[in-house]
Amino acid sequence: MHRRGFLVAGLATVLSGSRALAQMNMDGMSDMDSMPGMDKSGHAGHDMGAMAQAPAALPEGAALRELPLLANEAGRSGLFRARLTAEPATARFAEGQDTPILAYNGTSPGPLIEAFEGDRVEIAFANRVGEASTIHWHGMPVPADQDGNPMDPVAAGADRIYAFELPEGSAGSYWYHPHPHGRTAEQVYRGLAGAFVVKAKADPIPATYGDTVLVLTDLRLAADGSMPDNTMNDLMNGRVGDHVLVNGQKNPKLAVAMGAKRRLRLYNATNARFLRLAFANAATTVIGSDGGLLEAPVAVEEILLSPAERVELVVAFDRPGVATLTTLDYDRGWMGPGRPADAGLTLLTVDVSDAPAEAMPPLPERLRPIAPLGHPTVSRRLVFTETMAMNATGMEMGFLINGKAFDMGRVDIIAKAGDTELWEIVNQADMDHPFHLHGTQFQVVERERGSKVSKPPYLAWKDTVNVARGETVRFVTCQERPGARMYHCHILEHEQLGMMGIVDVQA
Ligand code: C2O
Ligand code: CU
Ligand code: CU
Repeated sequence: MHRRGFLVAGLATVLSGSRALAQMNMDGMSDMDSMPGMDKSGHAGHDMGAMAQAPAALPEGAALRELPLLANEAGRSGLFRARLTAEPATARFAEGQDTPILAYNGTSPGPLIEAFEGDRVEIAFANRVGEASTIHWHGMPVPADQDGNPMDPVAAGADRIYAFELPEGSAGSYWYHPHPHGRTAEQVYRGLAGAFVVKAKADPIPATYGDTVLVLTDLRLAADGSMPDNTMNDLMNGRVGDHVLVNGQKNPKLAVAMGAKRRLRLYNATNARFLRLAFANAATTVIGSDGGLLEAPVAVEEILLSPAERVELVVAFDRPGVATLTTLDYDRGWMGPGRPADAGLTLLTVDVSDAPAEAMPPLPERLRPIAPLGHPTVSRRLVFTETMAMNATGMEMGFLINGKAFDMGRVDIIAKAGDTELWEIVNQADMDHPFHLHGTQFQVVERERGSKVSKPPYLAWKDTVNVARGETVRFVTCQERPGARMYHCHILEHEQLGMMGIVDVQA
C-alpha cells in the first residue's frame, strides 16, 4: 500500500474525536516525509524515530525442544486440574543476554495443555503480571463467563478458577492467551500464549506418527536484549518481529528416519505475521484445521497460516538429507516502510537419515465425518474499514467494524443460542484482516473477490479465517451457549485499536 494513497483515502472518512481513533504522538514531528524510518527504501528499521539497527543474531540449529506439559494434579480420570501463573520471567534468546518476558509458569510459549474430550477442566489462574489480565481459551467451546473476556478481568495480583467441560467431538488444536481490555497485544508479544490440545478418545491418526506441537511466535530484540515497545508502525500493521521462533527457538533441528511420517500441529501465535509455509523435500498433507480433523486428508504444496490460525499436518520424510520448513512471499497489504522480508525464512530443519524407518501404517482415507451446519435462518454483514487522519498533535487511526470501534459497554449483535447464522465479513480495508469469533467453530462456505466467487476446497471447522483486502468471506456458524462473545481481527494491535465487537447470545 502506498502511504500517500492511504492518507488521502483515510482523510475522506475522518472520524475526529471518535473513540475509534487511537492517538499516536509523533514526537513533535510535523511532516511525515521527514520522519526517520519513513524513507522509501523498503526495509527500514521498525523503530520509527530511532536509529535503524540490525537485529541481534540468535543461535540456530539446537535440537527442537518439546514444550513442557502442564501437569494434571487431579489424580483421577475425567478431570484435568492445574495451575497457571502469569508472571514476569527472563528468557535467553541471544547469547549471553537475558530478555525480560512474560511467561506462564515461567516458560514462553506457555506449557502445553493436553486433555481429552469429555474431561472437566479446572485451571487456577494466578495473575502476577502487574496489571489486569485474563486467560482466553481460543477456539474452545467453553461457557462465556469462563472464556476470559475483557469484561471479566482478573486484577493484578488476583486469582480465579476457570472451569469448563470439553464436549465429545471437540478434539482439536486450540490455544490460550490473555484478553484484557487494551493490553492483549502487549501481553501476547511479551510471551503469554500456549497451546491447548484436546485429544480424541479414539484418534484415527496412527500413534507411530507422534504428535508434535509447533508454536510459532515472532520476536523482536533490541541491542540490549530487551523487547522494544510497539511503535506507530506496529500499531498500523500489527507488530512483526525480526525472528520467527518455533517453540521459542530459532530454526531448531529435528532428526527423523527416512520414510517416517510425523504429525505436526502448527500454531500461528504471532501478533501479526502472515506465514505462507512450505516443506522442502517432504510431502505435506493437511489433516486438520483450527477445530480438529478434516473429513479426509488433503495433499498440499503450501499453507497460508494467518495470525491465530492452526493447521494439523502429516509430513512424510521420504527422501534422505535435509527437509526444511520455509516461508514464501505473501503480500498482506503493508502500510509504509518496514515491510518484513516474508520469504526465505527457515523455521525448522529436519535431518532425514539414510537408514529407513520401521514401516509406518498409512494414513486412513477417512478421518471423521463433519456434518455441514445447514441452512442459516439469520444473516449478518460485518464491514471492515481503516481510517487515518492527521491532527495538531499527530496521526490518528482507527480500525472499524461497521463504522464503529469496540466499546465494551455496547452489544453489537443479539443472537439466539442454537440458531444457524450466515456471517458475511466484508474487507473494504487496505490490509488483510484475520477474523476470529469466540465461543464456537464455523464453516466457511464461500469467498468472493472482484466478481469471482469460490468455494473452499474442503469442509473444515475454523475459528479464525483470513479475509484478504477487497475480499468477502461467508461462513455459517451456530452458538450453542448463551452469553457475550467477542469477534475481532486477530492482528492484536488492530483488535486493540477497535476492530472488535460483541455478540450477545441469548438462551
Ligand atoms: Cu485468540 Cu479474542 O482471541
Ligand atoms: Cu478467541
Ligand atoms: Cu486487522
